Amino acid sequence: MITFDHTTKTYEGGVTAVNNVDFTVEEGSIVVLLGPSGCGKTTLLRMVNRLESITDGRIIIDGQNSMELNQIELRRKIGYVIQSNGLFPNMTIEENVMIVPDLLGWSKKEKRDRFHTLMELIGLNPKEYRKRYPHELSGGQQQRIGVVRALAADPPVMLMDEPFGALDPIIREKIQEEFLQIQREVKKTILFVSHDIDEAIKMADKIVLLRGGEIMQFDTPSEMLAHPKNDFVVQFFGKDRAIRSLSLHTVKDLQDNIGLVDFDETIHDTKTININQDLRNTLSMLMNQEADQVIVTDNNDHKLGAVTIDLVQKYLHFEIKGKPAASQKG
Ligand SMILES: Nc1ncnc2c1ncn2[C@@H]1O[C@H](COP(=O)(O)OP(=O)(O)O)[C@@H](O)[C@H]1O
Ligand SMILES: [Mg+2]
Repeated sequence: MITFDHTTKTYEGGVTAVNNVDFTVEEGSIVVLLGPSGCGKTTLLRMVNRLESITDGRIIIDGQNSMELNQIELRRKIGYVIQSNGLFPNMTIEENVMIVPDLLGWSKKEKRDRFHTLMELIGLNPKEYRKRYPHELSGGQQQRIGVVRALAADPPVMLMDEPFGALDPIIREKIQEEFLQIQREVKKTILFVSHDIDEAIKMADKIVLLRGGEIMQFDTPSEMLAHPKNDFVVQFFGKDRAIRSLSLHTVKDLQDNIGLVDFDETIHDTKTININQDLRNTLSMLMNQEADQVIVTDNNDHKLGAVTIDLVQKYLHFEIKGKPAASQKG
């Protein structure tokens, strides 16, 4: 758990980058720091592992004041991933990944075993990659190595500063999913910086939306989309707010709340969609086909009913309590 307690940072030139910030990252959850460039995300993150000093207030990590942790404790407790992966070009992949365990004095065998486990997590063959150098890997692979390097000594806390920001969109989505999969197993307490709305919605248990170093709203993605607290939040998420919120809900959610409609067997070329798919995908399917329904199937490919555009809209009204999607001007 990480708690920010009236945390403030004023740089020497007089810029207050973080202003009186209060929130908690619960154990095993992901909080995404979101906001425009210069709003203080990186500063806030770097105060946690003491790369920046704190001007006022405190940061408490698992019950301990961050200022009281020594260098070894900081390394053991906190993994750090940055956008430009930070791999050392003259060190092999294994040496790079094992930097912190090395500093902590792990044995050769412990390090070798750990390296194998970590490489398997990201689907890279440990034997094949051990002796390679960073430049021999693709951008996506390098970034994966950056992530497992931060996980190497199994720290309870991870700080991630736009870790996937330099990757192209398709690889980025893949790595986001892979990382969420890993997180389901390792359950780290994660503070994750992003300026990308879709990434934040996808990764976050809760989002801290910042402007000028101040918190505009601290909420779950669906609450923030459904109930923005002020004009800044409304404007930040823009007119796609309703559509974006669809990615947080599955066809199953829709079925549970308002039910499916009967499917029409006579319509040819009707596509099918698995009930666990999200509604954003469902809607885009509906909009990219002739037929006005998509048949919903369960995991055994049994047909359960159908979804229509009307039904998705009805669900959206239900979700964004009484605010019709069409009247949202963003
Ligand atoms: N080392 C520094 N010295 C002075 N001002 C800084 C320094 N680093 C960042 N700032 C300022 O602090 C504010 C927040 O920056 P930063 O935390 O990098 O924001 P973000 O990561 O959200 O883009 C900006 O106004 C930036 O110019
Ligand atoms: Mg930044």
